[in-house]
Amino acid sequence: MAKILTGIQSTGTPHLGNILGAIIPAVKMANSSNEESYLFIANMHSLTQIKDQNILKENTFLTAATWLAFDLDSKKSCFFRQSDVPEVTELAWYLSCFFPYQRLRLAHSFKDKSDNLKDVNSGLFTYPMLMSADILMYDANIVPVGKDQLQHLEMTRDVASRFNNLMGETFVIPEAKVQDDTNYIIGTDGEKMSKSKSNIIDIFLDDKKLRKQIMKIQTQSLSVEEAKNPDQCNVFKLFKVIASDDEVKKLHLRYTKGGIGYGEAKELLYHEILNRFSINREKFFELTNNRDRVEELLLEGAIKARKQAQNVLKRVRSRVGY
Ligand code: ADP
Ligand code: TRP
Repeated sequence: MAKILTGIQSTGTPHLGNILGAIIPAVKMANSSNEESYLFIANMHSLTQIKDQNILKENTFLTAATWLAFDLDSKKSCFFRQSDVPEVTELAWYLSCFFPYQRLRLAHSFKDKSDNLKDVNSGLFTYPMLMSADILMYDANIVPVGKDQLQHLEMTRDVASRFNNLMGETFVIPEAKVQDDTNYIIGTDGEKMSKSKSNIIDIFLDDKKLRKQIMKIQTQSLSVEEAKNPDQCNVFKLFKVIASDDEVKKLHLRYTKGGIGYGEAKELLYHEILNRFSINREKFFELTNNRDRVEELLLEGAIKARKQAQNVLKRVRSRVGY
């Protein structure tokens, strides 16, 4: 059976896109695998963007609580914080010595970030090497990720093969697993939902704030009576990824017939979100009142993760001659 591994950065509260695109599919795969999986919070990657210790800590907690609220089973999976396994930075160094600078220069994510962020630090540039180390450190076979992470996975496979070819079989070559049906959940502005834009839906907000966020979704300005093309409507696109097939069909029909306004459609989406995520919201709120429990689980996970990390590092060190 395959060893599943994935990480999520703690650059903010995980939003609907992260949850549907990364967290739910990863937990599902991990819970149904016979092998122990590795699910972690990439809080060292977050340092490329966040320089406030309280924010970094809080985001890390919120990310952990989200994983747990979406049924991560910490007995079946090794659940940990990246920063609790410092061995990963040593491996990242070795890998970076086996990867051409010119290839890193071609990374789309670095280009996007360096075009948009004020703080273009070298951590952003070497980000793919730390991510490769995250994956190769645990002999992972399958890495569930969003489409935007595919290039990073290609780099991971590439650096692992280069190392294996030059130094002898050392690393397992991982494969990416991309979720098809949830590719790119859109945000309230119709663009890809992202923590770095102000277009997210945070399902863990209290009811009133959540409703307000949904009411912000941008729409065309057709009247209630007019027939509407559901596939061009941001509210419908979001409804489609949340609601049951039956509900989606019903709403589709109402759009094409006319007689439904955007306000009502948003109201339906809001209730659908509350409905679908009511148990997860409850668990999340419970964990925010029990932070010590989350900390305890993360530390237990770190002990298991470090053991594996130290084994792999021993293998790598002997290959490079240390
Ligand atoms: P963000 O773009 O909000 O900063 P991250 O880059 O931290 O999100 O992504 C964490 C995980 O969530 C990745 O696997 C990514 O592909 C997935 N993801 C992020 N945004 C979306 C989205 N809008 N739709 C689907 N998956 C997403
Ligand atoms: N770069 C990933 C993202 O932004 C997060 C991440 C860090 C990751 N290390 C990883 C994902 C290892 C999968 C495997 O989403």
